Amino acid sequence: LKSAPTLRWTAGEIDRAAETLAQGRLVAFPTETVYGLGGDGGADAAVAAIYAAKGRPRFNPLILHVAGLEEASALAALPPGARLLAERFWPGPLTLVAPARSGAPISALAQAGLSSVALRAPAHPLAQALLTAFGGPLAGPSANPSGAISPTTADHVLAGLAGRIAGVLDGGPCVIGVESSIVGFDGDRPVLLRPGGLAAETIEAALGRPLGRPGGAITAPGQLTSHYAPKARLRLNADEAEKDEALLGFGPTPGAALNLSPSGDTEEAAANLFAMLRALDARADAIAVSPVPERGLGNAINDRLRRAAAPRP
Ligand code: TXA
Ligand code: MG
Repeated sequence: LKSAPTLRWTAGEIDRAAETLAQGRLVAFPTETVYGLGGDGGADAAVAAIYAAKGRPRFNPLILHVAGLEEASALAALPPGARLLAERFWPGPLTLVAPARSGAPISALAQAGLSSVALRAPAHPLAQALLTAFGGPLAGPSANPSGAISPTTADHVLAGLAGRIAGVLDGGPCVIGVESSIVGFDGDRPVLLRPGGLAAETIEAALGRPLGRPGGAITAPGQLTSHYAPKARLRLNADEAEKDEALLGFGPTPGAALNLSPSGDTEEAAANLFAMLRALDARADAIAVSPVPERGLGNAINDRLRRAAAPRP
């Protein structure tokens, strides 16, 4: 990897970003969840460069971004439940895992040796424009060094990856703010592999059945226990800050240094989560976080907070 300055592109420079991708180079791009680290999903060299730029273990497969259901169907055999969810929620904050079609133009590296592939059609207009201009699947993990907090602005991307990628397409702050929900299928049984930006209740209502939990043959290899790690120590479900702690509030929280959502709205809290963790990490050695309810996007928020608080490897 050459250490060249990383360029910042705006909406008018989509074609430059797409040409750069076609050359096999890496471009970070905005989605409604978090920024993705994009590379040509059909080119082994580009996919290998993504793993290198992130320092990501090669056993952890990448999400492939596509424009929509038609493009996804060419790459994977979507079971009826996956098709239903794609019709209902794509483009949007939902990733579907399904068996890859043999001969699909996907780098085997992106699948990390699995027979399945993770597919997502993002809703962000710049992501859609980039996919159309590029004309093929884009491998795109979150655009952060492996194990660090996911980026929700172009500045976050540059803070972690400047010099390691060709450019970042700046689409402003991500409106959802936590990564996509990932759903796989064990036969026809739907399984929630990662809680994310689409509430589990919403997915279950569309399917008309509960989502199973991962285990056995169906897991997401990337869901390692410690992840999203800030440098600061993190204490969860705190009622108030102890000495030296900065308090990250939820709902009315006297003494909070920052508040995820003063009104107790889990969508607002998700949109603020990663930026506020970064801000407090820069100014405190320890962060205490108010309890966040396990409803709506609270499941995804608590999942990320538990991983951030877990013992580091
Ligand atoms: O919102 C998102 O999903 C963002 C944006 C950029 O799209 N992407 C993202 O990618 O969060 P990443 O690489 O940070 O997380 C992808 C997760 C990992 O936990 C990985 O193990 C899992 O998806 N995954 C990928 N392919 C899989 C497969 N075939 N089976 C099971 N899990 C898979
Ligand atoms: Mg990630």
